[in-house]
Amino acid sequence: MAPATNIYLIFAALKTIQKKHSMYDQNPTLEGIKTIDEAQQGNVLFKDHWKTSHAPGARHFYIESYGCQMNFSDSEIVASILGEAGFYPTRNIEESDLILINTCSIREKAEETVRKRLKVFELVKKERPGTMVGVLGCMAERLKKKFLEEEKLVDIVVGPDAYRDLPNLIGGAEAGDKMVNVLLSREETYADINPVRLESNGITAFISIMRGCDNMCSFCVVPFTRGRERSRDTFSIVAEAVQLFEQGYREVTLLGQNVDSYKWENPETGELVTFAHLLEQVALIHPDLRVRFSTSHPKDMLDDVLHIMAKYENICKYIHLPVQSGNSRVLELMNRTYDREWYIDRIEAIRRIMPDCAVSSDIIAGFCTETEEEHQDTLSMIEWANYSMSYMFYYSERPGTLAARKYPDDIPEDVKKRRLQEIIRLQNVISLRHNQAEIGKTFKVLIEGDSRKSDQDFCGRNTQNKMVVFPKKAGLKPGEYTHVKIREASSATLLGDIVD
Ligand code: SAH
Ligand code: SF4
Ligand code: F3S
Repeated sequence: MAPATNIYLIFAALKTIQKKHSMYDQNPTLEGIKTIDEAQQGNVLFKDHWKTSHAPGARHFYIESYGCQMNFSDSEIVASILGEAGFYPTRNIEESDLILINTCSIREKAEETVRKRLKVFELVKKERPGTMVGVLGCMAERLKKKFLEEEKLVDIVVGPDAYRDLPNLIGGAEAGDKMVNVLLSREETYADINPVRLESNGITAFISIMRGCDNMCSFCVVPFTRGRERSRDTFSIVAEAVQLFEQGYREVTLLGQNVDSYKWENPETGELVTFAHLLEQVALIHPDLRVRFSTSHPKDMLDDVLHIMAKYENICKYIHLPVQSGNSRVLELMNRTYDREWYIDRIEAIRRIMPDCAVSSDIIAGFCTETEEEHQDTLSMIEWANYSMSYMFYYSERPGTLAARKYPDDIPEDVKKRRLQEIIRLQNVISLRHNQAEIGKTFKVLIEGDSRKSDQDFCGRNTQNKMVVFPKKAGLKPGEYTHVKIREASSATLLGDIVD
């Protein structure tokens, strides 16, 4: 039987919305701003080669993910757990028995996006009574069972540490119960779960190396939604990277909210593995396996990591080092535990040890009590640090955070937005300048696939994480390295030609 037409329309609407956002998005003022396209918000996870089943009675799940890479990475763990429980993935919402949405709480806008998606799922559910709807991730953790009261269509609410319980929760929901598990854990790292790389290009992959965050930055909801920081078993991380390399992957990104505080004690030898050690072990897997990582916290990023980065060609010369604000008083209110001078010292260390390393940032405009002079300090930091790119936001108060409890959200919205625009404008100028300085240089590029605009061109990144687009050459294919000489640059992309 053909599904009702309006379901197709809904699905078409879903597809257009999915492509509009970029990593950490949900600030409407960012529209039109080009950032490095690291993730696609709301992406449906699916890969063509992944087995699906049309056998009668086969059950399917459909999943959308929002928020940071950790959430996208978690959806791959969820897909694995559901696969074990006999659920097949589908990109057709109209054939799904279970609709999942992996949610983000980082800013109010992120939560509004999820609420809007739920409205669409409600229509789907009306067409197909019996379809279950599950909410995963940070918003599930923040709202807990309140979600069930506020959104009647939701059947299952699962926090980020409770995904192993999904088969049981689904069982309960099938029996007609509303199910919630939002227990946070001090140990769970899903180390033994082999993520299903659903939406992967087969060349670059993310590996979660830790979970949670202990930093308590005053604006941030993550410590409440993700729980305590814990590091994953080093062996399982290296094993996952080895397996990816054997499957043809050529780049792994090690993920954590604060990778520099990675710490794992080998229970057999008592040896303590730091992030620098881990990075080295992953780099040693193979010279053709590139290693990236995100995110670094300025307070913990010390020279040991920089020296390891400098030592191995395959550790990419790129650090995402969010400053948040360029002013020391604001940084203190933010509880970032570093000041402007410390941050400057860290950038100087990067330049000293790796002169060719690119640095990017996250910036918040209009934090509580921020003055115009303090905002100017942020602008001057962007200029001085010469960021290759930044993710830029205006402050959004999150319930329960230290800032919400202690400080007034006293910067009017129009002022926040104006400051953000000034930040964005400046960063665009700096990004363009940064990229124009690459004209005439030759870079080693890992080919990721066809460029977005033309199947006559390849795209890939250089070590500094800049996207490079260049005409194809016979004999070369995605997953291989090539050398490209840059002839043209915009604020987001480098254009060049193969010189191999
Ligand atoms: N762990 C990373 C950041 C994770 S959240 C770090 O410490 O750098 C990603 C970014 O969202 C943050 O760096 C910050 O710039 C932004 N952000 C977090 N909470 C926010 C809030 N309440 N309002 C606006 N932006 C926020
Ligand atoms: Fe949030 Fe700070 Fe932790 Fe980053 S380090 S996730 S900003 S609390
Ligand atoms: Fe959002 Fe949670 Fe990541 S709040 S940014 S999905 S850790």
